[in-house]
Amino acid sequence: MIGIIGAMKEEVTALREEIQNPQVSVIAGMEFCRGTLDGTDVIIVQCGFGKVNAGICAHTLISIFGCTKIINTGVAGSLDERIDIGDIVVSTDAVQHDFTVEALGFRKGEIPYTGLYAFPADETMRRAAAEAAHAAAPEAHVYEGRVCSGDQFIASKEQKERIVTDFGGLCCEMEGAAIAQACYLSGTPFVIIRAISDKADNSADMNYEQFVEIAAARCTAIVRHMVTHQD
Ligand code: ADE
Repeated sequence: MIGIIGAMKEEVTALREEIQNPQVSVIAGMEFCRGTLDGTDVIIVQCGFGKVNAGICAHTLISIFGCTKIINTGVAGSLDERIDIGDIVVSTDAVQHDFTVEALGFRKGEIPYTGLYAFPADETMRRAAAEAAHAAAPEAHVYEGRVCSGDQFIASKEQKERIVTDFGGLCCEMEGAAIAQACYLSGTPFVIIRAISDKADNSADMNYEQFVEIAAARCTAIVRHMVTHQD
């Protein structure tokens, strides 16, 4: 069973409509829509914005529905000047850019007493996601690298530069690293697939409004391809 998480309606609706024999359960206010996608068992869920929603959602998929793989998909802001609106980022790992216990001697992003900082995505899922991105979005450039997550919509040069300086990373969004941490805690493989809707700078709000639907549609096509072409 593969769990597919998107934060917003635009990121899940099209996939949800394609599910065969859908059965919906509501837990923590989230609609978990279970069924098959070309013969593969899937659950698609809209978790809402932010890391708390995302962590709860991922853990529910794993512990209640028995998902053995998690895909997080949706839009993101670009942190790298090579990466343009419409391009795709597949996660190598994910960090929480707004998590810091530096005052107690831990490095930025590190979860105290675990030694954990960046949560690595599953290699096999990464490969499958990148292949699906090339196949389903041939007009986009596909990049593999770090996803930076936090409970902030990044919309200024200063915020963006801080994240890049502290963490590197190819894109910023608001859920991926929380899903990554929840998956890590139960040893569940995950990957994050994001399409760029904006440049996370002073024009981010305008660009986001303009491109969110196009970018989300690109993610839908990629996830659909990945799920229906997996071995
Ligand atoms: N999702 C899409 N664009 C984003 C941004 N600029 N910051 C955070 N999350 C995003």
